[in-house]
Amino acid sequence: MKADLRIFTTAEIMADSLAEEFYRYVNEQLSDRLKLNIALSGGSTPALFLEKLSLFNQERKSKIDWGKINFYWGDERCVPPSDRESNYGEAKKILLDFIDIPEKNIFRIEGELPPEEAANKYSDIIRERLNKKNNLPVFDWIFLGIGSDGHTSSIFPDNKNLFKSESICAVTENPESKQKRVTLTGSTINHARRVTFIASGQSKQEVLEAIHNKMPKSKNYPASLVSPIYGKLDWYMDSDAADLI
Ligand code: 6PG
Repeated sequence: MKADLRIFTTAEIMADSLAEEFYRYVNEQLSDRLKLNIALSGGSTPALFLEKLSLFNQERKSKIDWGKINFYWGDERCVPPSDRESNYGEAKKILLDFIDIPEKNIFRIEGELPPEEAANKYSDIIRERLNKKNNLPVFDWIFLGIGSDGHTSSIFPDNKNLFKSESICAVTENPESKQKRVTLTGSTINHARRVTFIASGQSKQEVLEAIHNKMPKSKNYPASLVSPIYGKLDWYMDSDAADLI
């Protein structure tokens, strides 16, 4: 699959442009769709994008009918929402508390539950609510970050089998911190209608070089296996991250 690469001089400009694209695309899609199911990502670069979405909303630069958006998450750290590590908690503080979105449109992963239980509960919600292809849910848009070890969502290098999984979600472990995570599987990610990576900073250079220049070592990187079967893939990067591409 050919990905659309977009490179910006700074992370700030990148996040700004993606926020603009969010408003444009969501409104375009809502012209013939009643609701959109969107999965947000954790991580500091994606958080900058959420900040921009929030700012655009405050400034009323552009409007979205938030009642027509369902927010999900691509992954969650197994901590309660009040923990600074919680992806949902961060999104709430940055974006959700500032937009007019009904509580019933927010489908968080319950990081405070035992991990398997949280994964099963989240899978059941997604299975019930989303349209499916090949028995897997089709998200309208999934946002992803990438780690310098090539992980994406919470699919780490030892979890690449999750791209062949028949499950919607899985429990994984961050190999460095040993923190448990709940993540969408690679199979679910690859069933989305649109997938967007967000990457910034020098620490991502090597991994982005390997993936985009199709170097052999990229096979170790889960992010290299993201390739939507029916959808499109785009990458938003700053010039520090994209320097070696
Ligand atoms: C998470 C993620 C993860 C993250 C990347 C990039 O919950 O940690 O979803 O995949 O997006 O590790 O994170 P940074 O932007 O902070 O480097």
